[in-house]
Amino acid sequence: MFYLEKQNRMVIPRTELTYPAHQMRFHENAAKAPVDHVMADFEDACPYEYKGEASRRVAVEALNTIDFGDKVVTVRPNNIRSPYFLGDLQAVMVGAPDRFHGIVLPKVYSPEDIVYVSSLLDALEKEGGWTTRVQIEALIETPQALVRAYEIATASDRMAGLIFGIADFAASIGAKEYVEDQHKYFLYPKQAVVVAAKAAGLHAIDCVYFRIVRRDTPPEEAREIEEGLRRKNMEAANLGMDGSWIIHPSQAQIVNECYTPSDEEVERARRAIEAYYKAGGGSIINPETGEFEDDATVKAKLMLLAKAVQAGKLTKDYLDELARRSAEITGYNILKVMRRMG
Ligand code: GLV
Ligand code: MG
Repeated sequence: MFYLEKQNRMVIPRTELTYPAHQMRFHENAAKAPVDHVMADFEDACPYEYKGEASRRVAVEALNTIDFGDKVVTVRPNNIRSPYFLGDLQAVMVGAPDRFHGIVLPKVYSPEDIVYVSSLLDALEKEGGWTTRVQIEALIETPQALVRAYEIATASDRMAGLIFGIADFAASIGAKEYVEDQHKYFLYPKQAVVVAAKAAGLHAIDCVYFRIVRRDTPPEEAREIEEGLRRKNMEAANLGMDGSWIIHPSQAQIVNECYTPSDEEVERARRAIEAYYKAGGGSIINPETGEFEDDATVKAKLMLLAKAVQAGKLTKDYLDELARRSAEITGYNILKVMRRMG
């Protein structure tokens, strides 16, 4: 999770919009997009001719001049084995202190990679005069990273989240289909990323859906693409992913919806928890809905309501009170253990 505003605001992103860092208009469009998180990319989305100084100059100017509102702002440098990595990191850390919140680290292979980057950030924060602390999201996009995902997630207290990178992962293992049927071919790595992230108290972010609707996309095909985007993200949310990467602002609305409980779900969960406490616990059939409830189903609903708090649909105080009642009996507050509430 990202902790912003001197730890006073916690953000679990539902949408992370990645865009090439080498052109100002991409930064400007990202700042206006209805997303929780933006990611200026020096890595795979940046054309070769702009690698190095050309993209760094634009990104530093964008970070210093554009108002990104209350979004989480991050930068993806080239990977640590690339000749561009150090220069990318130095440019933004020294050129735009306190103007962004996190680094998205691609092609992580081991926890040592995180320890290395974290110590570089220690030095660069000093050099740049930062008053805030930069967090790290690690891309899990190689089999080497997947088998060490929990160690990576716990390698530094800068770690905020894990992101599943499907394109590089598919390339690494030699898988051919990674656009459609993701949950047939990539169920295991996605679930492994979720478990590692959650065990470490971090957020888990799903991969890209590569098809986008363009101005000239015929309506029938546009509908099919939007259905594919929704299906992929509803399924990822069911797996425990907290949000997803997106590659175009036009994907934002559908993806936000997939990771936000609807008003009806919020109301239903709220009433079910209240009815459960009123009934005095145990395993019960909720008289209003006919559904089975016990302490575990109540915890699932508390977790759902935490997403509603993140989305501004419910107050934190109200949910704190419900979670406190659960903790009174079970001895632990699920929302605190899973770091779902600040
Ligand atoms: C993202 O970086 C991916 O490889 O899918
Ligand atoms: Mg990648």
